[in-house]
Amino acid sequence: MFSKTLRGTSLRGGRPGGASLAVLLTAWYTMASFVVVSAATGLLYLGLANNLRKISEQSLLDELDVCRALVRERGGDSQALHEEVEIDSAVRRYQKFYVRVLDASGMALSTTPGMDRDLSSSRLAQAAAGQQGIFWIDSPGGAPYRAIVALLPRDSTHRDVWTLQVAVDLTQEQEVLGRQRVWVWAVLAAALIFCPGVGVAIARRGTRPLREVAETARHIGSSTLNERIRAEGYPVEVAVLAEAFNAMLERLEESFARLSRFSADIAHELRTPVNNIRGEAEVALARTRTPEEYGEVLASCLEESVRLSELIESLLFLARSESPGDHLKRTREDLGRLLTDLRDYYEATATEMGVTLTASVGDSVWGDVDRALLQRALGNLVSNALAHCSAGDGIWLSARRQGGQTSIEVRDTGSGISADVLPRVFDRFYRADPARSRNSGGAGLGLAIVRQIVFLHGGDVRISSERGRGTTVSVVLPQST
Ligand SMILES: Nc1ncnc2c1ncn2[C@@H]1O[C@H](COP(=O)(O)OP(=O)(O)OP(=O)(O)O)[C@@H](O)[C@H]1O
Ligand SMILES: [Mg+2]
Repeated sequence: MFSKTLRGTSLRGGRPGGASLAVLLTAWYTMASFVVVSAATGLLYLGLANNLRKISEQSLLDELDVCRALVRERGGDSQALHEEVEIDSAVRRYQKFYVRVLDASGMALSTTPGMDRDLSSSRLAQAAAGQQGIFWIDSPGGAPYRAIVALLPRDSTHRDVWTLQVAVDLTQEQEVLGRQRVWVWAVLAAALIFCPGVGVAIARRGTRPLREVAETARHIGSSTLNERIRAEGYPVEVAVLAEAFNAMLERLEESFARLSRFSADIAHELRTPVNNIRGEAEVALARTRTPEEYGEVLASCLEESVRLSELIESLLFLARSESPGDHLKRTREDLGRLLTDLRDYYEATATEMGVTLTASVGDSVWGDVDRALLQRALGNLVSNALAHCSAGDGIWLSARRQGGQTSIEVRDTGSGISADVLPRVFDRFYRADPARSRNSGGAGLGLAIVRQIVFLHGGDVRISSERGRGTTVSVVLPQST
């Protein structure tokens, strides 16, 4: 049972192989938290970049609107435009803001001081040629700008059109984004260092109940099978494991107790015939005996030896049939024939006792059974019936198909078994009437063997009895047999 493997990992001896749960949990936690931190910082960075872009674009568009409004309201007043350009560049102290107004011939009417150095009108016109709306442009010195070039019609005929070139310096925006990138990398590096640490701590904490359960389990031995793991306070999953483990201990303890009782019973049962043989031999050797007396002693010893070897054989049978593996040599058998053979075998004894023994089989009933074993089981049932019948009683053997099953019945009108002991008659070494059974040589193993044989066939055995009225034992075998 314990040699079963868990996902291919043998648990026999030493530590089980495979990755540690704590390591797996740590790895998954680290990966998951790293992905979350990366996604969060990445999204924050993109959000910031987007907002900064929107702000600079909006300021370009605002400037454009102001200039358009000025041209619309004041017509050819280039002085007003010039003032607006001056004011704007003065207001934006931290962000270079360039505005240039060109007349229809391309002459600059107004230019923010310094703009010609960084962004000449031809450079801007060239960059704007292939673009729509706001575009990105670098100065010859490498400074980044966002710019827009727009037409300013001075009257409704659209014949005199000025051109407005507006550019905003992005150096500060790029610096802010650069600092943000440094933060992003710093946060990611910190996550890479801290996440495994936190993961290890969490995994250790999470698996601690498991280690405690394992520790308790490690200390439980055959002499401390009554110990249990206290599941209170543990997480549900571990509590379930602990409860399953406790249930297994319960079963083991019960099996152990049964085995020790069985061993004690075996010792007791073997002692009686051995003591008898020893006693007879000692008494016989105490003084010189006649050959007849020696013969009697030897015959008595032989009888005890036969009983002893039968007992040993029964015990061996029970032990072997409990070990795993199919012990059956199945053949297709006529069960009616099997019952009549059984009747013929016991008929002489029954007649001698004044008991009627009848085998009744209706339609022929066949089954794939181990003939020798089934014969042995049914023989045990018939000899039980004979042992508890007296002159005038009857025993009936019958076999029939019943709802897809085969039912073989041994019914007698003997002394019966009282209801209080009936549930125990299949226990090993159990005798409902020890004095009587012992006289008839019974060890109390017959029904245990019957049950074992029927179980090997995949069937079930039931007993019903009433004190003073008789007993019926039914062996029910599945259809496949
Ligand atoms: N047909 C029956 N009528 C009355 N009592 C029965 C009958 N069959 C079994 N018993 C009771 O059940 C007990 C257990 O039966 P079981 O066949 O296991 O043991 P046994 O007959 O005493 O010994 P063994 O079969 O090992 O020689 C018997 O001791 C007997 O008291
Ligand atoms: Mg018996």
